[in-house]
Amino acid sequence: MKKYTILLLGSGGRESALAWKLSQSDKLEKLYIAPGNGGTLQYGENVGLSPLDFEAIKEFVVSNGINMVVVGNEDPLVAGIFDYFAADAALCEIPVIGPSKAGAQLEGSKDFAKEFMARHGIPTAQHLSVEADTIEDGYRFLESMKAPYVLKADGLAAGKGVLIVPELDEAKMQLKAMLAGMFGASSRKVVVEQFLSGIECSVFVVTDGTDYKILPVAKDYKRIGEGDTGPNTGGMGAVSPVSFANAEFMQKVEERIIIPTIKGLKQENITYRGFIFFGLINVDGEPYVIEYNVRMGDPETEVVMLRIGSDLLDLLEGVSTGTLASRKLEIDSRYATTVMVVSDGYPGSYAKGKVITGLESVEGSILFHAGTSRDADGVLRTSGGRVIAVSSYGSTKKEALSQSFANIEKINFEGKRFRRDIGFDLK
Ligand code: AMP
Ligand code: GLY
Repeated sequence: MKKYTILLLGSGGRESALAWKLSQSDKLEKLYIAPGNGGTLQYGENVGLSPLDFEAIKEFVVSNGINMVVVGNEDPLVAGIFDYFAADAALCEIPVIGPSKAGAQLEGSKDFAKEFMARHGIPTAQHLSVEADTIEDGYRFLESMKAPYVLKADGLAAGKGVLIVPELDEAKMQLKAMLAGMFGASSRKVVVEQFLSGIECSVFVVTDGTDYKILPVAKDYKRIGEGDTGPNTGGMGAVSPVSFANAEFMQKVEERIIIPTIKGLKQENITYRGFIFFGLINVDGEPYVIEYNVRMGDPETEVVMLRIGSDLLDLLEGVSTGTLASRKLEIDSRYATTVMVVSDGYPGSYAKGKVITGLESVEGSILFHAGTSRDADGVLRTSGGRVIAVSSYGSTKKEALSQSFANIEKINFEGKRFRRDIGFDLK
């Protein structure tokens, strides 16, 4: 059996969950996480490298016998880490789990993603891509639509580049402001979109470019406030499975969205060996793509990994060698939930460096650290807005959530906050 020494890139709850799952594999020799956090130390060794510093990554990979790189976050993929490895004589045999730079455009450019969907007949909201010199067309398109109005920065904007505006005049003003640089270079092009009304879910697949496997479906809760109110965050919790994503819905998703996406990439000669995240909306039983991401979701990964019963590294080996079809994916039938414990003030400004206590008394949940760091003397402190995801299994959603909440009571730091209504809108 081939053994893997893996470098996992990223530092959030998602990477903690990936590290937890990879660490259970018989095929794992050693795991390094760059840069990791105060919790990933349980599963491997943290390395003080930036996921965007490809030269430093190369040096580390070569000198530490790394034979697989798993990319957690989108930035290195959009910046072309896959192509960087493929083009380097010392690295080209080492698989990078993630798409090529061209494939990463599915997330890196909303305009590219919309045009790709149009080329392959994949259901999504109607749209027009607008630049400064076509702003008048943008205004006319807005006038032809019904409120509310959806404006999206074309490029990566750390999850902040989407505006949903109730009034036409304000939408025109915001379009102008975006094109004038509201989100820097990422909004030099803006996708104006039809508003779709429905409930969202996150569908994940792994693909080797030809075959694919559908991972457990999840739903995340993005707003800071209960009842989905207040500003967007990086995610306050997630559940899996998702009651409305039943066999009938998923068949439509597979036929209309997953298969055409994978075939489309292949047809366009775009190399894609990694995760595809379909952000979907259910409009009266019909699935539409809201967005693609080229990585796993956060905090969805903190429930999806719990529900993968088989070996994730075996799947990734299949992804990297084009043998995914022969690998098995077992899905755990239990519910999984995660509740994110965050710092007071988040997603605005918040304090860091607060001492975290009580983790040792947590029982029956899995703690995925996000914004934590460990001092040289071993003291665990907060280092981010999202601090720890508390993930649990249950035979029902309610049972899993109760477990997460009971354990959150035992975790303490100054300014601890969380949402008590994760999963509220699902059966
Ligand atoms: P995105 O970054 O494209 O996922 O957009 C962020 C959030 O804005 C999504 O999760 C949706 O809740 C919302 N959104 C984006 N596009 C639309 C749309 N066309 N209709 C309704 N809501 C949308
Ligand atoms: N949970 C949404 C995302 O990871 O983009």
